[in-house]
Amino acid sequence: MKLKIALWGLNVAQIATVVSAMPSFAGRANSTGTTYADDMFNTAIEWNDGFWDDEAGYLIAAASNDGRYDTRHSGWYATQLLARNGPGDVARAVRIFDNVISGQYLNPAWQWYGDYQHSPSEPEPGTPEYVNGGPYTSWDPNIRDFVGCAWLMALSDYEHLLPAATVAKIENSLLIAAKGDLYRVGGVDGDNLYPCYSNPWLMGTILVSWVGTRMGDRNLTQAAENSAQEFYDLWSQHRTLSEFNSPTYAGVSMWALSLWSKYAAEDSLLKKYAPEVLTTTWNDISQLYNANLKNLAGPWDRTYGYNMKEYTSLVGAVIWGAVGREYAPFPQRTSGMYHQDDFAFYPLFALSMPEMLKYLSAESKSNFIKFPGEHFFTGQAYSPPFDTYPRNITTWMSKNITIGAETIAEHVVGGPAESTSAFSPAVIQWKIDNYQIGCVSHWVTESSIHAVASPRALKISYPNATVSSGPVSFNFLFSGLNVRNGFNVTGLEGLPGLPLEVNTNAGADYSIVYDTDQTVNDFIFYNITYTMPEHFTEEPYISLRVV
Ligand SMILES: *[C@@H]1O[C@H](CO)[C@@H](O)[C@H](O)[C@H]1NC(C)=O
Ligand SMILES: *[C@@H]1O[C@H](CO)[C@@H](O)[C@H](O)[C@H]1NC(C)=O
Ligand SMILES: *[C@@H]1O[C@H](CO)[C@@H](O)[C@H](O)[C@H]1NC(C)=O
Ligand SMILES: *[C@@H]1O[C@H](CO)[C@@H](O)[C@H](O)[C@H]1NC(C)=O
Ligand SMILES: *[C@@H]1O[C@H](CO)[C@@H](O)[C@H](O)[C@H]1NC(C)=O
Ligand SMILES: *[C@@H]1O[C@H](CO)[C@@H](O)[C@H](O)[C@H]1NC(C)=O
Ligand SMILES: *[C@@H]1O[C@H](CO)[C@@H](O)[C@H](O)[C@H]1NC(C)=O
Repeated sequence: MKLKIALWGLNVAQIATVVSAMPSFAGRANSTGTTYADDMFNTAIEWNDGFWDDEAGYLIAAASNDGRYDTRHSGWYATQLLARNGPGDVARAVRIFDNVISGQYLNPAWQWYGDYQHSPSEPEPGTPEYVNGGPYTSWDPNIRDFVGCAWLMALSDYEHLLPAATVAKIENSLLIAAKGDLYRVGGVDGDNLYPCYSNPWLMGTILVSWVGTRMGDRNLTQAAENSAQEFYDLWSQHRTLSEFNSPTYAGVSMWALSLWSKYAAEDSLLKKYAPEVLTTTWNDISQLYNANLKNLAGPWDRTYGYNMKEYTSLVGAVIWGAVGREYAPFPQRTSGMYHQDDFAFYPLFALSMPEMLKYLSAESKSNFIKFPGEHFFTGQAYSPPFDTYPRNITTWMSKNITIGAETIAEHVVGGPAESTSAFSPAVIQWKIDNYQIGCVSHWVTESSIHAVASPRALKISYPNATVSSGPVSFNFLFSGLNVRNGFNVTGLEGLPGLPLEVNTNAGADYSIVYDTDQTVNDFIFYNITYTMPEHFTEEPYISLRVV
């Protein structure tokens, strides 16, 4: 049953009830068609419906997960069901609330206090059965925020659909989740929640703020005000999210900010800061988006793929909500999407779209539909305590080719998330032909990388690499040639549709490997590696120029 189509065939009194229960965008239902947010909501909730296991009362995990069922997805789906409110939806949501809450960790002595399980099959965190302990292994501290934010929407907008006992149960659960969220301190007990960890910081802040207001707990309210100020102080230094230009997490941060703007108390700092941050974030992504390639150009602080037309990102959701699926950086078909997991989140983005769109300027919006012409983006982003100085971002945007890079000096490899598969500080994307997008992404092995883009060129050097640190190399992953059409990939100077010239003080004999046993973020790739001579003395560098 579709959010809007559901209206036909009901009598006027029923329509009035349904409409009042619906999000504002759906309240405008008429016979002339749906809004983009309606379309996104319906497409994605129906996809979620396909994962529902009615025996268990959970959604089956849509991707690799720590168990058969996915608690976080189920938690999201409960709010979505209330928004749709079709036959049986509310009862299904109530079952989910009961199930998910029954797996919440309730002992205040535990570091994971108030968190929800990854999956109902998992043993208690911290027990010896686990091969790995610590955050993000036996428990994911961010699930409090993902589920908590979805449920604050449920109570704010659909409370009238729920039995009083369920409302009280959710309130109590969120109070515990909010209190547990305050246990998180970056650098303590393996936790990484610093203000630079933009997406959970922003979600946690609204969760704690909203619960504080709802439950009259001034400690929580004040804690959230402090978090909002800490976030804003960092953000104001360069007017950028620290998790900058992440095709997935920029979307999550925007969603969280729309909750700040919509659900925080009138006199809160959240309400005060959200509009400015959202407006600026929309502008940044509209500058870095190439509507011709349907991709966000690099650099990507955190990515789960190399072509947004092949994987599900959450910037894909905000652009879909703004200009429609036709223009969105979203796979043509939901079957076979990489990282399909995040599609479960899309209906909640749809519900937040009216709020988010208040801060999208006409000019930025038009960039999502039509590439505005060649331009250059510069900016800075800062992630203390990981960065020893703010990262400098340079991106050259042209119609068929984008080159994006950032300089970075950290003490860890892989960016603040310490993930080599996600951190892509230097990226070239281009049109191979009318539908294939090529991508060359620098695979990081160093913690200090000077990567700078300029028109038609990319230069990467390693200011801190020395002979004593072992073999030093420049690795590039090339992906995107899905239909080879006889083209042979022979190296950086032998790529389809991108004539490159390489200049480097590394050895001229590069290696090129296509390993069928290995993918990164689901993408199969050619790994092209240039290695420095064993006894080099100069700073290692490599320059690529489009000729
Ligand atoms: C129907 O809804 C669309 C989308 O919200 C709106 O643009 C249009 O003006 C509406 N038409 C009528 C007749 O209400
Ligand atoms: C708020 O914090 C104070 C000081 O730590 C404490 O005494 C009080 O019980 C807390 N109030 C609530 C509602 O938790
Ligand atoms: C980053 O850019 C700023 C402003 O242009 C400049 O002052 C600074 O030296 C640059 N830092 C690095 C490491 O390139
Ligand atoms: C971009 O690629 C198209 C073919 O897809 C080609 O017709 C056009 O000339 C190219 N534009 C530029 C500026 O290279
Ligand atoms: C890079 O090397 C310099 C000089 O040896 C040192 O001061 C700095 O801490 C190093 N930076 C990183 C991120 O390792
Ligand atoms: C690719 O390699 C094959 C086998 O070496 C050769 O027959 C073919 O001509 C090459 N194609 C191109 C476009 O160079
Ligand atoms: C690419 O190849 C280099 C050299 O063999 C290797 O060190 C690196 O781990 C490879 N990267 C990936 C993602 O396979």
